[in-house]
Amino acid sequence: MRVLVGVSGGIAAYKSCELVSRLVQSGHEVRVILTPKAAEFVAPMTFRALSGHPVSTSVVDEPEGALSHIALSHWADALIIAPATASLMARLATGLADDMLSLVYLGFRGHVIMAPAMEPDMWRHPRTQANARILNDDGVVMVGPGEGRLASGRIGPGRMAEPAEVLERLGDVTAPHDLSGLRMLITAGSTWEPFDPVRLLTNPSTGLMGVLIANQAARRGARVVLVKGPSVIAPAHAAVEQLGVTTALQMAEAVHSRMPDVDIFVGAAAVSDFRPAEQLARKAPKESLSLTWRMEPNPDIIRDVAQRYGGQKLIIGFAAQTEDAVRQAQEKRQAKGLDAMVANVVGGRHGFGEAKHEAWLVTADGVDAMTGGTKQDTAEQLLDWISRRVQGDGGWNR
Ligand code: C5P
Repeated sequence: MRVLVGVSGGIAAYKSCELVSRLVQSGHEVRVILTPKAAEFVAPMTFRALSGHPVSTSVVDEPEGALSHIALSHWADALIIAPATASLMARLATGLADDMLSLVYLGFRGHVIMAPAMEPDMWRHPRTQANARILNDDGVVMVGPGEGRLASGRIGPGRMAEPAEVLERLGDVTAPHDLSGLRMLITAGSTWEPFDPVRLLTNPSTGLMGVLIANQAARRGARVVLVKGPSVIAPAHAAVEQLGVTTALQMAEAVHSRMPDVDIFVGAAAVSDFRPAEQLARKAPKESLSLTWRMEPNPDIIRDVAQRYGGQKLIIGFAAQTEDAVRQAQEKRQAKGLDAMVANVVGGRHGFGEAKHEAWLVTADGVDAMTGGTKQDTAEQLLDWISRRVQGDGGWNR
């Protein structure tokens, strides 16, 4: 996405450096406008280096390669104003276009996100509150300000929202609502299979893939339940209902209890295939333990789901393989009776828990390589496929 970041002159401008950096890392193309005051807090050169583009600070004195205010307004898909000072909010609320940022704001017709930052008394002032309401009515999405300690040492509302929160809001406002009305159940993370209260069998999955799918599906309007194992660290979107489980048996129970109420199941969890047949109630001294422990198989949750609901609901699995991922995924898809399987390679260039990976969507129609190379891309492309499938069929039946 093409994101324009407008920075006004407050001490929180330093946080916008991280915001720009994160936007770029997330794959967005970013251009920055600084108000003349902002350029006193952070040098244009910093933003130029982070965004990789010339930075506009003035209407008359544009650096080489910078776009005009009209071109910038048309270029961007989203405008983030962070930090927004009380003064900038007042100018924007009255439509006073006297610098590059306010000119672009007036000419821009896409999503606008604003992260105010100022002293608590200034934020609480009826004038600022009135300006915030006007901007809100004009469709600006406010994020923050947060409560806490400000640069002045005072405590109160006025801290600029953290870059992660701003990015989250950008994802919320720009997502299509093509999954509205769909109910999805998603599993994520590894399971823990205890030998005793302190020893367990598990795997390195962090659940990132499942959480990204859950969050993106919720943004796109689906009602999402996330059944997550104990290893899941990534935070779920506020709109996602979360059920925490520990063992594969608990995961199976949670999934089966919710399956009747959903349309789509995505099994992204790395369920432990086995569990210790015997589980000790207390920690035994290691000398007393046998080195051979009998294991028993866990239920294959997704296969059982497919057996019961295949043909009525869309069922999608994940296959993490060390080699030959696509062929193995196609075989597993057929053996388990799934509509689709996402194949990905583990143990090579990309490890567990990393944002990057290499994946393919394997269906009865063939194999499609996921593009972009990140788990976020894979989440979005899988949801695109689901969306097309649901719309194409006029339902989710085969
Ligand atoms: O057979 P394999 O474990 O490679 O298949 C992976 C897929 O099966 C994933 O979608 C995973 O969530 C699911 N699975 C399951 N229950 C198991 C093992 C795997 O649902 N016991």
